[in-house]
Amino acid sequence: MVERIATAVGTPNIALVKYWGKRDASLNLPANSSFSLTLDENLRTTTSVMFSDSLAEDSLFVDGEKQDLNDSKNEKSAFAGKVVNILRDMAGVRSKALIASRNTFPKSAGFASSASGGAALAVAASGALGLNLDTRHLSVIARQISGSACRSVCGGFVVWHAGEKDDGSDSYAESIAPASYWPEVIDIMAMISSTKKKVSSSQGHALTPKTSDLYKARPATAEEHVRMVVDAIAKKDFGAVAEVTMKDSNSMHAVMLDSFPPIIYLNDASRAVIYAIHELNESEGSPIAAYTFDAGPNAHIITLKQHKDKVISTLREIVGDNMLVAGIGDGPRLLGENESLIRDGARL
Ligand code: DP6
Repeated sequence: MVERIATAVGTPNIALVKYWGKRDASLNLPANSSFSLTLDENLRTTTSVMFSDSLAEDSLFVDGEKQDLNDSKNEKSAFAGKVVNILRDMAGVRSKALIASRNTFPKSAGFASSASGGAALAVAASGALGLNLDTRHLSVIARQISGSACRSVCGGFVVWHAGEKDDGSDSYAESIAPASYWPEVIDIMAMISSTKKKVSSSQGHALTPKTSDLYKARPATAEEHVRMVVDAIAKKDFGAVAEVTMKDSNSMHAVMLDSFPPIIYLNDASRAVIYAIHELNESEGSPIAAYTFDAGPNAHIITLKQHKDKVISTLREIVGDNMLVAGIGDGPRLLGENESLIRDGARL
């Protein structure tokens, strides 16, 4: 019996310039480039993949719960199945796959478990199949599970190039600097709600370009924001990074609100965080912190280590102690056998 198995750990990323709207939904090709920070292993997904002749079907378990790989309502599981097929074809392998994945943080809470999960799955499955793929190729694979997952394949400061080709081969993520380039940068996450969002990001990606007039300006704005943030990172100009980060989050949430029916992810506590960060920056005389929100109410505050205590005490007034802190990370890596979630051919 041939058994191939590998385990990888992946981490979320936080976009400072957002991906919202696709030019191709089946390949997750974005309407614009985006920019993110890959977070460290304070938040992580561990995924083991086994290909074995003894398996009768493909199966996927996330946090111990079986997912339906053919459920079109659960797009990310369906995309995970598609990606396993692509990799299997590349390796010329026919055996079925058992995939087991565990997160250290709440799913569907706007903390992007699909990004860390997609990156971990791409790395573990290609590792198990002995495919020696470079980071660019791995990001193209991970992108097809969840667009933002392609950015989590790279460590540090990451650009996802939108690309132009119909087959998506030029839509990939690339690290412009490693985590060690600016290790003072941190993400303080204020947990406002962990309930599942009403509109999934995949639904929103489709609705906004179709119904929002404001969205017409969004792709060019985002491309400009990517150029600005890359320039600000190169100069380590935190004030400029902070300004473009806040503006880009506001721009994305504006086109979400302009969708019809409107998509509203921010709530009163999210807005309280926005006001509090502007007040903090004003009292400091220059921006020391930036808020950014994904498809949910939870706030990510990008700041520098030296301002951590000030930011935490500002946020505590709104969310109490419901905070997580992550630094910048190096991207996914393969783990040893003793960290596998599959042993003796079965899920642990
Ligand atoms: C708001 O990557 O979750 O977090 O490609 O449909 O899986 P799919 O969407 P997803 O969208 C993330 C959107 C965002 C912004 C961002 O991370 O760039």
